[in-house]
Amino acid sequence: MWLIALSVPLLPAIVMVSGHYRGKVASLCHRALAWALRLVRRGACVKSTHAFVFSNCTHGKVDSVLETFDLYAETHRSLCIGPQIGEVLDEVVRRVCPLLVLELGMHCGYSSVRLLRLLPPRGRLVTVELDPITADLGEEIILVAGFKHSQFQVLAHSSAEAIPTLHSFLESDQGTGDGINLVLMDHDPQQYLPDLLALEREELLCPSGCTVLLIKRNQRAENLRGILDHIRGRRADLIESTVMLSAALSP
Ligand SMILES: *[C@@H]1O[C@H](CO)[C@@H](O)[C@H](O)[C@H]1NC(C)=O
Repeated sequence: MWLIALSVPLLPAIVMVSGHYRGKVASLCHRALAWALRLVRRGACVKSTHAFVFSNCTHGKVDSVLETFDLYAETHRSLCIGPQIGEVLDEVVRRVCPLLVLELGMHCGYSSVRLLRLLPPRGRLVTVELDPITADLGEEIILVAGFKHSQFQVLAHSSAEAIPTLHSFLESDQGTGDGINLVLMDHDPQQYLPDLLALEREELLCPSGCTVLLIKRNQRAENLRGILDHIRGRRADLIESTVMLSAALSP
C-alpha cells in the first residue's frame, strides 16, 4: 500500500513543473499509476488468497493446502501457477530429484508447497520474493502445509540482491554442497536472463547439470528472447510449451 502513498503525492508536482512536456509527462504519469495499481492489486490478490487458504484448508495437510488454492482459483483471479502447470512442475521435480531448489518469485507460496512436497528427505528450497508482505504470507502458508524451517528459507529481497548471498546455503549444508539442481523462475521476466547469468557467474548451479524452469505468464515474446538465445547457446535440452519452458543445462 505504501506505493500509492508514495507515487500519488509526486504526480501533481511533476505535472506542475513541466507544463510544456505535457504529453510526455501525462504518459509517464499514466504508466506510473498503472504500475502502482498493478502492484496494489497484486498485494490485494495475495492477501485474499492467503486468507482463503489459511482459513479453509486443513492445517498440516499439504494436499488440502493445494486443493484449497485450486478451489480459490476457480472463482477468483489468482497469481498461482495452478494445477495444470503444477503437474508439469511435479514431473520435472520427480525426474530431477533435486537436493537444492531455487525459486525466484514466490507469490502466494503455492509452487513452493508443490516443490517441497516432492523433495527428497535432505532436499531444501530457497525461495526469493521481492515484496516483504507477500514473503511473510507465503512463508506462513508453507508452515501451515506442515514444512519446517530446516527444509526451506524465504529471502525477502530482489533476485539480484539474493543471488550473491546464496553461497552460504551451499557451504552450510553438506548435503547440498554441489550446487543448485533446479531453478524455477516466476518473477519479473526482464530479470530471467540477468539472473541466470549471475547464477552461472557465481558458480551456484550444480556442475553436473541443472534444470531451469521458466514460467511464461502473459509476457511479450521479446522479453524471453534473450534467455532463450542464451540457453540455446549452451546447447541445453530445451522443452518449450505455451506456459513453461524447461531447460536442462549440462556441464
Ligand atoms: C472460506 O471458504 C468459504 C466457502 O468457499 C468462503 O465463503 C470464505 O470466504 C472463505 N474464507 C475466507 C477467509 O476467504
